[in-house]
Amino acid sequence: MYWYMGHLFEAIDFVENPLYEQIISDIAHQKFSLVEQFFTPEEVAIFRQSLMEKYEEDAFKKAAIGNKLHETIVKSIRGDVILWMDETKANPAETLFFNKINALVNYLNKTCFLGILQKEFHYAIYPKNTFYKRHIDTFQNDDRRKLSVVCYLNEAGWLPENGGELVLYLNENGEEVEKVIYPFPGRVVIFESQIIEHEVKPVNTQRLSITGWLKTR
Ligand code: OGA
Ligand code: MN
Repeated sequence: MYWYMGHLFEAIDFVENPLYEQIISDIAHQKFSLVEQFFTPEEVAIFRQSLMEKYEEDAFKKAAIGNKLHETIVKSIRGDVILWMDETKANPAETLFFNKINALVNYLNKTCFLGILQKEFHYAIYPKNTFYKRHIDTFQNDDRRKLSVVCYLNEAGWLPENGGELVLYLNENGEEVEKVIYPFPGRVVIFESQIIEHEVKPVNTQRLSITGWLKTR
């Protein structure tokens, strides 16, 4: 009897969310989803301020790939600087950020069979004249990465001429198709980490973001 009641309440409790349903449908059909205004301009400003505070504290270090000794090689592949976020020590801005991400993760776990148990996010700054060459996010890092999530924190009025566009290399019926995504503030791009090759084109102006991965197992 109790079990039945509980079950009923759980069913009533579930409210379909059109935004999340759109994301799920996009990923199922095209392996990526681009969401405009996932974060409001106010939220973006709060996250950007948190990022800049930490950057000024010098908390960032050069993003490394593989062997840290080969820094020049690394620089020829990626030039961003990153700072990993620690949810257990979140400041108010980061709490706001993770609340919104966790709502999405909980929804995905309720409605899909992704089994996302872990996540990892970092702030990223691409200084002028940096880029990230074509790559796949599970390349040498972590095959538990299931979905990549990129959140853009640039100022309003970011121009395409600033560069730094994300290019997704999609496969449409055996043909490679380039999907160009400008890093406009509030936008969030979610894509399948194990499938989608992508790159960040050179930037002419400092480019700000939070990037993360939703992971299985
Ligand atoms: C990455 C990455 C894309 C972007 O950090 O692995 O591909 O648009 N970022 O910042
Ligand atoms: Mn990547």
